[in-house]
Amino acid sequence: MDRSGWLIDEHGIDLRKALKAKKETGRVSPRVHDAPSAAVIRDIEAEVLIEATPTDFKTGEPGFSHMKAAFESRKHVVTCNKGPLALAYYALHELARHNGVQLRFSGAVGGGTPVLDFGKTCSTGDRLIGIRGILNGTCNYILTRMEGEGVAFEAALAGAQKEGYAEADPSLDVDGFDTAVKLVITANHLKLSKAGIKDVKIRGIRGISSKEVTKARREGKAVRLIASASAESGLVVAPTIVEREHPLCISGANNAVEFDCEYSGPKVIIGKGAGGPETASSLLRDLLEVRAKIDGQPGSRPAWRAAGAVGGPAR
Ligand code: HSE
Repeated sequence: MDRSGWLIDEHGIDLRKALKAKKETGRVSPRVHDAPSAAVIRDIEAEVLIEATPTDFKTGEPGFSHMKAAFESRKHVVTCNKGPLALAYYALHELARHNGVQLRFSGAVGGGTPVLDFGKTCSTGDRLIGIRGILNGTCNYILTRMEGEGVAFEAALAGAQKEGYAEADPSLDVDGFDTAVKLVITANHLKLSKAGIKDVKIRGIRGISSKEVTKARREGKAVRLIASASAESGLVVAPTIVEREHPLCISGANNAVEFDCEYSGPKVIIGKGAGGPETASSLLRDLLEVRAKIDGQPGSRPAWRAAGAVGGPAR
């Protein structure tokens, strides 16, 4: 189902045909919505809903209603939709648990980079003290282009939109909300905090001038939009000056997150944080994990887990 209509075939959808139709006519099928999308989700015989509608940080809709319909009709949910997760993290988990189905959302933070999985592994057997990092690809892309090529803010933002990194409403990126939402999801997922978006102190990069970026560069530093969460400082999103050689000082649409653990120290994960194919890889990873859990198999485990680096030696 997309904005243009829906396609249902009990024998399985011919993807080639659907993609061809979408390319040529702009629609997946000649059928238009004549029923509310949540009703279609509720009624269709399927095992999993993959929810990838544009995120709404105020109401969580239509994603929230889609997920609720899926859970109530006992379907697993795989999603990269941040709004519903940040607004109703515990309610969604409770609905999934109550209906005996899975909720997976690794694409909601880090695009294709398994930030949440890595954080979970880091905090297993150790105490997570805090997290700090870059969670928005669009802002990092803009800041990198401003410092490297002297591109003006607006032109750099247009570039991020063209590359498909930015939200449908790009002010959500540049004003720091997207970063805040990902921080909230991460902090709750890793049991670092039970905070919501209203608890995050947010300052975006809109006011950052080329002058500030150039000055930092001359001093061997860089401006980056940093999100942090810890018991002492709470949840904060703000442009921050970082040393060039610091692992968090990454470029382009990448994300980087440092997990600080009491006994094992800090660990950093870096990777592409936005983009269609990147996020699709997370959705596919989650879908395979859903299948693996149903089958009771280890599934598509991350390499660091499969190698037995954490949680005991591989046997
Ligand atoms: N607009 C988001 C970003 C997309 O730039 O990081 C990935 O969540």
